Order: sequence, then structure tokens, then C-alpha cells
Amino acid sequence: MSRAAHPAGPRYADVLPGAGVSGPPADLNALVAKVWPTSAVRGEDGALRLGGVSVAALAAEHGTPAYLIDERDWRTRARAWLAAFGDFEAGEPPVHYAAKAFLSKAIARWAAEEGLGLDVCSGGELAIALAADFPAGRLTFHGNNKSVEELERALDAGVGRIVLDSFAEIDRLAELAASRGVRPRVMVRITVGVEAHTHEFIATAHEDQKFGFSLSGGSAADAVRQVLKHESLELVGIHSHIGSQIFDTAGFEVAAHRAVGLLAAIRDEYGIRLPELDLGGGLGIAYTSEDDPADAFDIVAGLKAIVGRECFGYGLQVPRLTVEPGRAISGTPGVTIYRVGTVKPLDGLRTYVSVDGGMSDNIRTALYDAAYTCVVASRVSDAPPMLARVVGKHCESGDIVVRDAWLPSDVVPGDLLAVAATGAYCRSMASNYNHALRPPVVAVLEGTSRTLVRRETEADLLALDLG
Ligand code: LLP
Repeated sequence: MSRAAHPAGPRYADVLPGAGVSGPPADLNALVAKVWPTSAVRGEDGALRLGGVSVAALAAEHGTPAYLIDERDWRTRARAWLAAFGDFEAGEPPVHYAAKAFLSKAIARWAAEEGLGLDVCSGGELAIALAADFPAGRLTFHGNNKSVEELERALDAGVGRIVLDSFAEIDRLAELAASRGVRPRVMVRITVGVEAHTHEFIATAHEDQKFGFSLSGGSAADAVRQVLKHESLELVGIHSHIGSQIFDTAGFEVAAHRAVGLLAAIRDEYGIRLPELDLGGGLGIAYTSEDDPADAFDIVAGLKAIVGRECFGYGLQVPRLTVEPGRAISGTPGVTIYRVGTVKPLDGLRTYVSVDGGMSDNIRTALYDAAYTCVVASRVSDAPPMLARVVGKHCESGDIVVRDAWLPSDVVPGDLLAVAATGAYCRSMASNYNHALRPPVVAVLEGTSRTLVRRETEADLLALDLG
């Protein structure tokens, strides 16, 4: 049996609470601040604490696996995004949290209380937002194939904006609005031809994909023309989303340049000024010590400067700028805890550490080759670190949670593992693969924990199965 220890690295106890993918990090404080929620500390017993609660206590109370959210950290990030914009018109927040990253009724209430708007992209997300009494006027409804029923519900609820994504949808919505005697505010989603520096499946503004109207091909201008023909639609602006997990503003610069060019062309052709420009979401977060995201203030300042400059160039009044961060608000406040079930050293290869969840609660590693940071959370250890692979319990060899994890070489069944930065797109993309039961979502705040979404039970599975 061999467990390769990191030869020159510090003792594992020195690199708590985070250990990076490519080796124990040089600058521990920077990593802790970037990857873990702000409340993450080691208690005197060595167990990781989040929101003032020990993960051991959380595991005992809520079971494992479980998604934990540091409520204060979530709210602080939401507030920082809004504050970065400075003053704005009442009821028209420039920041819309992208619900697809993760939404529950409590999250919708946090977003409402912090003054954010909310971007929803399905009837289900709309239903959760409305059930939480989220102010409908602060909702933006997205989607490349909204059903008639979804459009009707959006109109009946009075959502603030509907983002139009196809010619069929423009006519469909116009008809539904006319028959109800309402005039919804709409935006036209354009694809600006930017290849965002991200995984192919999460880049959305290059030409060859399903979202939006192509700017270079002329369909964006055609869509605007078609919307303007409909009395029952109020065109308020242009929407662009270039992708996700983006770290620099270069892609946004090109997007803003092209989107503002379209606003100028609309002014020139129709003599109208569209008041809004939504540049979407996509701002990256740190999953490992190698990721280095800018903070909200700098990003917003950068975006404002770019849009201001472009508008100046075209002699246009600067439109009201909005953004839709999902991951950048909810990613880092979320941590998943798992219980180790087996430890399997493979001679000359690596050690496989199996946990009680896997690809059903975090598909991102398998789907995007995403990298994560994880630690043994229930105790500290003086054992030398070893390079391990954290895998799930699903019947598939691609069922990997953390491809390369530095874990103490004395990791044993029963230890708790915590995986950082799982607050975005893990619960919302979770599945029941192998009839796994989806874990609960638990908020922690000032020494207490509260279940936001309960764990699924076998009774839930059986209730859907009509035999
Ligand atoms: N706005 C629109 C129109 C979007 O399509 C998205 C993400 C966002 C905002 C929020 O993007 P964020 O700030 O969270 O990056 N499941 C993938 C990401 C796909 C995101 C799709 N749209 C993942 O796990 O990384």
C-alpha cells in the first residue's frame, strides 16, 4: 500500500482550511479569502466552522451530503454588487441575481430584501420567485423557448421585463399581450460574436449556438424592427450575455462596443433612444488558488467606463446599465459537506476517496471538467498531504467530485470533507441519478442553521412513481 505524500509541501495542518489543486498554496490567507465563505474558520477542536456552526454539528443535525450557505456572505456579496453601481432609480435595481445559479424561496427573499432584481428563465424559477412574493416588477424573464403558458404567467404576474429570443416568440408574446390589453417591457437578446474565455458549453455569445439574435448576420436588427411593429410591446433595451466564469472585461468590452453600435443604429433608423442595456452575467469566482477574480466594484467601474466611452463615441446618451451575476453572488457562500465512506489507495497511481454524494449533487466536474478545492473538515491532521481524487458513489467512473485534491494521508472513513464554492449550479443542476436523494440546502448564520430546502426522501421518489 502506498500513499504518495507531497514531497516538499508544508504539513497539512499548515494549509488549513484550504488546499489548492496544484499543491498546497503558497499564500494561505489569499486562498482562504478567495475560495471559502467569509465566516469559514477552524474551531478549537479543529473542525471547520461556517456561520459560527461546526460542520460536525451540522452533519449531525442535517446529515450528509448537505449544501451549506453562509447567509451573511451571500447578502454581503449581493449588497456589494448593488453598492458598486451607486445610486439608481427606485424599483429599478441595476443588479439582477441570476436565479439559475440557485434559487429557493428564502434566496428570493434575501434578494428582495437586499434590493436586487431577479433573472428567471423558466416557469419553475418564476413560480418560486412569486411564491416568495418577490416584487414582479423587478423580475426579468429569459429563455430561448418559453412556452405559451410561461409567457402567459409572466404577463399575468406583471414581470418587469421579458427578454425576447426568437422571431416566433416576438409575435407570440405580442399576440398574448394584445389579447390581455397589456404592454410588457421587452428586451431583444443579441449574440455579439464574442468567444468568452470559458468552457464551450457555458460560452453563449459566439454565433453558432441557440441563444439570441445574431448581430453580424443582421437578425438582431430585424428582431428590433419586428418588435417595433407591435403596439403591444414596449421595447426598452438590448440584452447580451457572453458566457460564464469570465475573469477579464475584454469580452464585455467587445460586447458593449457592438451592443452600443446597435443602439446607435436604432437611433439613426427610427429616431428612438432605447434606455436600457443589460450585459448579462458571467463574472468568475475562485474555485482554486489559481483563479483570481476581480471584485464587484472594479468590474462595475470597468463596465461603466466601457459603456460610457462607447456611447460618447456614438454621441448617445448612456443607457441604464444592468448586470445579472449568478455565480458571483451565490457561488462562494456555498460549501458542500460529505462523509468519507471508503479510501482506496491504488499502488503507483493515486488514492480514491469516496464520499456519500457525487455527480448527482455536483455534475460540474464531469460536465465542465471543473476544478474544486476541498479539505477534511471534521479535524486537523499532521499527516503529510497526498494527492487524492474525491469520487462519488454513483455507478459511473466519471463520477468525480474533485479531480485533484490535496488531502491528509491519514484520511479515513467517517471523516467529513468540505468542498468549497459549490453555491452556484450544484443544487440547481442536481439530479436523482441512481435514484440518489438530493441533499438539503442549509443556511448558517451567527451560530444557527436553518433548512431552506429539505433533503429528498425515498417517499419523494416513490410518490412520483405511479407503478
Ligand atoms: N444571465 C444569463 C442570460 C445567463 O444565461 C446566465 C447564465 C447568467 C446571467 C448568469 O451567469 P453567471 O453569472 O452565474 O455565470 N451551469 C453552468 C453555467 C451556465 C450558465 C448559464 N447562464 C455552470 O455550472 O457553470
